[in-house]
Amino acid sequence: MSSEFWPGAEPFKIKVVEPIKLLPREERINAIEKAGLNPFLLSSSQVFIDLLTDSGTGAMSDNQWAGMMLGDESYAGSRNFYNLENTVKDIFHCEYFLPTHQGRGAENVLFPLLIKEGQYVPGNMHFDTTKAHIEIAGGVGVNLVREEAYKPSVSAPFKGDMDTDKLRSFIQDKGRDRVAFIIMTITCNSAGGQPVSMANMKEVHDIAREFEIPLFIDAARFAENAYFIKKREDGYQNKTIKEITREFFSLAQGFTMSAKKDGLVNIGGLIGIASDEGLFRRAQERLVPVEGFVTYGGLAGRDMEAVARGLYEVIEEDYLEQRINQVAYLGKELTDLGVPIQKPVGGHAVFVDGKSFLSHIPQEHFPSHALAVELYIEGGVRGVEIGTLLAGRDPQTGENVMPELDLLRLTIPRRTYTDNHMKYVAHVFSRLQEKKESIRGMKLTYEPKILRHFTASFAWLT
Ligand SMILES: Cc1ncc(COP(=O)(O)O)c(C=O)c1O
Repeated sequence: MSSEFWPGAEPFKIKVVEPIKLLPREERINAIEKAGLNPFLLSSSQVFIDLLTDSGTGAMSDNQWAGMMLGDESYAGSRNFYNLENTVKDIFHCEYFLPTHQGRGAENVLFPLLIKEGQYVPGNMHFDTTKAHIEIAGGVGVNLVREEAYKPSVSAPFKGDMDTDKLRSFIQDKGRDRVAFIIMTITCNSAGGQPVSMANMKEVHDIAREFEIPLFIDAARFAENAYFIKKREDGYQNKTIKEITREFFSLAQGFTMSAKKDGLVNIGGLIGIASDEGLFRRAQERLVPVEGFVTYGGLAGRDMEAVARGLYEVIEEDYLEQRINQVAYLGKELTDLGVPIQKPVGGHAVFVDGKSFLSHIPQEHFPSHALAVELYIEGGVRGVEIGTLLAGRDPQTGENVMPELDLLRLTIPRRTYTDNHMKYVAHVFSRLQEKKESIRGMKLTYEPKILRHFTASFAWLT
């Protein structure tokens, strides 16, 4: 490991490069105005450093690309499927496996098999597609993450943990039969990529067993979570990432996973089922009409090969050390400048507290979104608001929901940008800081009814 004297040195060298270009300032202003002041609507060629998401945006290794040339595109029984199946069984604790085209495909297949109309699905904090698929299946998603997750400036090692007192009272209050299953999202994306501890997972497992409620994992960033356990939780320092992963997954009945994160690929998803053969059979039946035959589930053979190889690469400790350190490095650079960020820095992104950075902009005028637009204009950097814009409106009152957190997410793709790019992003923030008083709030000029943040347009307040 590189950590012996230089933690976080890249454990790879770069074989292929993709040119990126910073457009002149005037062109950036034109571009964002044409995009209705919504960075989602920019073309990627107008962006210099793209920190919109870490989902499917990372770089694959030469080993993965080589594997893609070995794609077996047979409709049934592709050898890449068997390779992926063996890999999944080896790394996670599960007897059964199905491939899907991405994480939401896995949710779409599994959730209707677990949820009856009106049942609740408590979790630490659901990702938005997870919540959507719970609702589509007739359920109600409930977030029971510990309170610290809502306080950006309060540091705690495992801010993604479930509040187990709340979980227990919730089940007692609603009744065991009204809870379909419990889901633990690792790391907890919506709470800032904050990890879940093994101790908390064990507690949740005990509660789930006591009430005989199935427990599942949303495993998109399982390896980053395991790395945090190794670094922060007593008793895990000498365990490998694979050992930690197997222990963690042995506490659940199964998992869904977007392989676009810790599968180190651009597309792919997984369903793992620990031992329930009946559930597996029903998932197989549902997979065929919605995703594809059971040995490809919406993926080409070459894609499955890339996932199989990516899953072994992601559990390499020097890979994880560089990954987590790079995100922490950007966090430190911003903190040193006095930019308020969520603490501690999570596994895949730095979350800037836009509400406190631009405290002169009232929350109803979207401070973190205004910051995202300004970040693009100043330096061609694309981030995304996770706050009032994303939260949408209360369906009953039609009023804007005012979430406690109004953040700008800077999400770091895997193995894609260098630390120098991170330094550049911090430099853009130092320039913004000098003129932050002049940054204006925004109002909506076009607002779609659902998932408004993707396609909404804005105007600056005068
Ligand atoms: C925690 C979590 N779950 C599920 C998903 C959905 O996965 P996908 O985008 O592959 O459909 C995501 C995607 O960002 C995620 O972060």
